[in-house]
Parts: sequence; structure tokens; C-alpha cells
Amino acid sequence: DWTMAEFRQTKIAEIRAQVGSGRVLCGLSGGVDSAVAAVLIHEAIGEQLTCVFVDHGLLRAGEGEQVVSLFRNHYNIPLVHVNAEEQFLSGLAGVTDPEAKRKFIGKTFIDVFEAEARKIGGADFLAQGTLYPDVIESVSFTGGPSVTIKSHHNVGGLPERMNMQLVEPLRELFKDEVRELGRELGLSEQFVGRHPFPGPGLAIRIPGEVTKERCDILRKADAIYLEEIRKAGLYDAIWQAFAVLLPVRSVGVMGDGRTYDSVLALRAVTSTDGMTAQAFQFPGDFLPRVTTRIINEVRGINRVTYDYTSKPPGTIEWE
Ligand code: XMP
Repeated sequence: DWTMAEFRQTKIAEIRAQVGSGRVLCGLSGGVDSAVAAVLIHEAIGEQLTCVFVDHGLLRAGEGEQVVSLFRNHYNIPLVHVNAEEQFLSGLAGVTDPEAKRKFIGKTFIDVFEAEARKIGGADFLAQGTLYPDVIESVSFTGGPSVTIKSHHNVGGLPERMNMQLVEPLRELFKDEVRELGRELGLSEQFVGRHPFPGPGLAIRIPGEVTKERCDILRKADAIYLEEIRKAGLYDAIWQAFAVLLPVRSVGVMGDGRTYDSVLALRAVTSTDGMTAQAFQFPGDFLPRVTTRIINEVRGINRVTYDYTSKPPGTIEWE
């Protein structure tokens, strides 16, 4: 595409001008945005860029591996892979308030980052895949009063002491434009077409306390849901689909026995920019089939519901 080709060249020039001969650290979240930002910056400044992938243990099944292999094997971009699951999960113990979770995760990302930055001898710039809607929604809600709906973990700058400047080449773009830029940069359709995934990850899809056990249950159910969506050829028709593990148990019957297990909510929405969204209408027997599979295959879940809420009044994520 002509426009994106031009955007790419303009941004490359801007990044070079901003960075000079400085060193840049780029935080990878596992999602499309930070990956596109990293590939673009790598094209601009090559070896001056180091990527840090902070794996908080709150990713969906297989996503961490995909990012690592994309960077190490395909692009050959220097990548530091930090396994910080223990640090995140122990800090989340007992935390149930959605904003408290988001704040803790945002702060811990920065802490882990700072530690890694020190290990590689520091850097002058920090790159992030912040998009335009992230910037707006963290400031105020569409046309409304200036109220923070959710603190996006990747917006809001850095602590003064870090003394690093931000490089955010995607700050003017919407999601569909980032995907176009990704294609322009040669990322595969499969990678570029991935559904958005929030920085705080599964923590905001587990209302109530986040534990390793509940993350594992959610990952299994979520993987079945997404597998069925792909099999049905519906993945690209949906903006985002995911499961939410509720802090509610219900009574059920399995074989001859009584069960008393967690309730899972399935969510799928259509949207063009994530700012508004509509519930996706699945064809005929899709939801009953997924429900049966999840209950039969995932221990700890005995009831599945579907969330028909639009945004507004709901948000896409539950927290
Ligand atoms: P909500 O739930 O506010 O989400 O309707 C709108 C879009 O943003 C994603 N989202 C996030 N992305 N960091 C991110 O990078 C975050 O903290 C965050 N919170 C929500 C959400 O998945 C949806 O695509």
C-alpha cells in the first residue's frame, strides 16, 4: 500500500533523527503492536535496538513461544526473554481490585525492565507499541468527562529516575493501520491478523484473585474456544474472542456425582478500533459445542455462559 509505504519511510527517518547513535530498549508484550514497533525500529537503527520480552506468566497458551521464535529465528533481532511469572503471581496474591491489578502489573513491568536495562549497560530510549486508542482511553472516555476507565499499563510514561526518552512510532495509528504496517514490513498474515491481547493479560480475565491454578484453567478453556473458532473459519470475522474465568461456582452433575465448580464466560466482539464493539453472533450450534468441549475437557469448570454486552455500556475486557 502506497500510504503505508510512505508512513514507513517517514517513521524510519523520524526514529533515526530522534535516536541518533543512542541505544533503544523495546518492550515486547506478546502482541502485534509491540512486535510491529520493534520490527520498524530495527529497520531504522538495526543493532542499536535490543528487545526485552517480559513474560509475566499471564499470556494465553503458546503466545510467548510465537513471539520468541518470530524475533530469534525470523528477524534475528536481539531478544532478552525474562521469565517473571513468579514475581508477577506472588505480587498479585490477594489482589482483587481491577485497577490495583493493572497498577501492580504496570509498575512491575517497569521494575523488571529497569533491572534488564541495567544488566545490558543501560539505554537512552524506551520503545513501546502504544496506539492512538490507548492514548485516548487512558485520558478520558469518548466525549465524556475526564474519567479514567482503565489505566493501560503501557501508557503514562516512565519514572523520572529511569532517565530514558520514549519512542512510540505507532502513537497516531489505529489497530487496522498497525496491521497494514505490519504487512508492509513483511510480517506474516497469521501474525499480523492476531486478535489484540491486553498488556495485563489473563490477570484482567480472572475477576477476583489471580492464581497460577486459575491461569492454567483459563488457558486450557481459552485454547479450546480459539481452536473451535479457527476450525469454524470465524477467526478473521471477529475482532477479539476470549474466555473469562469467573469467581463464581455453580452446582452441576457429572456422571453420578455432584460438581461444584467455576463458571466461565465466553466473549467475542466485532469492532473496528476497539473503542466501540458489538457482541459477535455465532452460528447455530457453535456455542453449545464449545460449551460441551470445555466442560468435558477442563477440570474446574462446570458451566459456560456467553456475554452479549456491547461497548458501551460494557468494555471489551471485564476489568
Ligand atoms: P476495553 O476493555 O477497554 O479494551 O474495552 C479496549 C481494547 O484494549 C485492549 N486493552 C488493553 N491493551 N493494555 C493494552 O495493551 C491494556 O492495559 C489494555 N486494556 C485493554 C482490550 O483487549 C481491547 O482490545
